[in-house]
Amino acid sequence: MNVHDGVFARLRAPFLLVTGGKGGVGKTTIAVNLALELARAGEKPLLVDLDLGLANVDVLMGLATPRTLEDALAGACDFADCVVAAPRGLYVLPASSGVADLAVLDDERRGRLTAGLAELSERFDCVIGDSAAGIGADVLAFAAQADCVLVVTTPDPAALTDAYGMIKALDELARKRGGDVPTPELLVNLCDGVDQAQFVGRKLRAVCERFLSRSPRLAGWLPRSRAVRESVSTQQPFVLGSRAPLENHCLRALAEHVQRLLPTADARLASLKG
Ligand SMILES: Nc1ncnc2c1ncn2[C@@H]1O[C@H](COP(=O)(O)OP(=O)(O)OP(=O)(O)O)[C@@H](O)[C@H]1O
Ligand SMILES: [Mg+2]
Repeated sequence: MNVHDGVFARLRAPFLLVTGGKGGVGKTTIAVNLALELARAGEKPLLVDLDLGLANVDVLMGLATPRTLEDALAGACDFADCVVAAPRGLYVLPASSGVADLAVLDDERRGRLTAGLAELSERFDCVIGDSAAGIGADVLAFAAQADCVLVVTTPDPAALTDAYGMIKALDELARKRGGDVPTPELLVNLCDGVDQAQFVGRKLRAVCERFLSRSPRLAGWLPRSRAVRESVSTQQPFVLGSRAPLENHCLRALAEHVQRLLPTADARLASLKG
């Protein structure tokens, strides 16, 4: 299958998917703050809420969303009409919450979403997608379209087991598709510090090296923090404030790592032409 084919078609800007297996590990928190940090670093990112059916990027950012991705999928407007401006020059493509019908896409709507995102992505330097929990067909298809997959876990054994499950599912997908799926990167959230993040990263890597043909590198970490928790309840992403210097430092390091990983928009276009 090549990069232009149906549900796995590639976007025209570099695409990073934030995912993780387990629910509630901080995927949306990371996606929102990472996108804002990339915007601060001079990129022009589009943040897309791909948790279709239970979307909440708009809630975490306190954004009003007159139209959502679901309106575009229903043919009521274009995808570009749903995009809203956020701080720092970030743009957000929001989705809806409570739309059970969209929790799993059929092929026709998936094709429309892929085509809409591909067209929209032309206007941006990169696309950051916030995925739903789990290893459902939609999450795996988004991962297969991505240039980089960031797996968020916590040190909790249940979260680690689910992160391993996600990496294993990507490994199987890569085997079926001839390797055209990125090797995931790991982010350890809700940890005590860098030592614990590295320990968790090494542990997961050892299991992956033993049983799979790919194992994730540690891309970053974020401490368990009251400032992060409060930023979610006040709908003010923590990178926009100065009350959380360590947390801000972690996100800045993550954004720098992501900038090194993602191909440039020009390279992405060249690879599609080639
Ligand atoms: N580093 C952190 N410190 C403290 N609380 C955190 C941290 N990261 C996330 N949280 C809290 O965990 C909760 C879940 O976060 P978030 O919504 O980002 O997770 P998620 O993985 O996107 O969840 P879902 O699977 O439901 O989409 C939020 O209430 C948030 O405040
Ligand atoms: Mg989420």
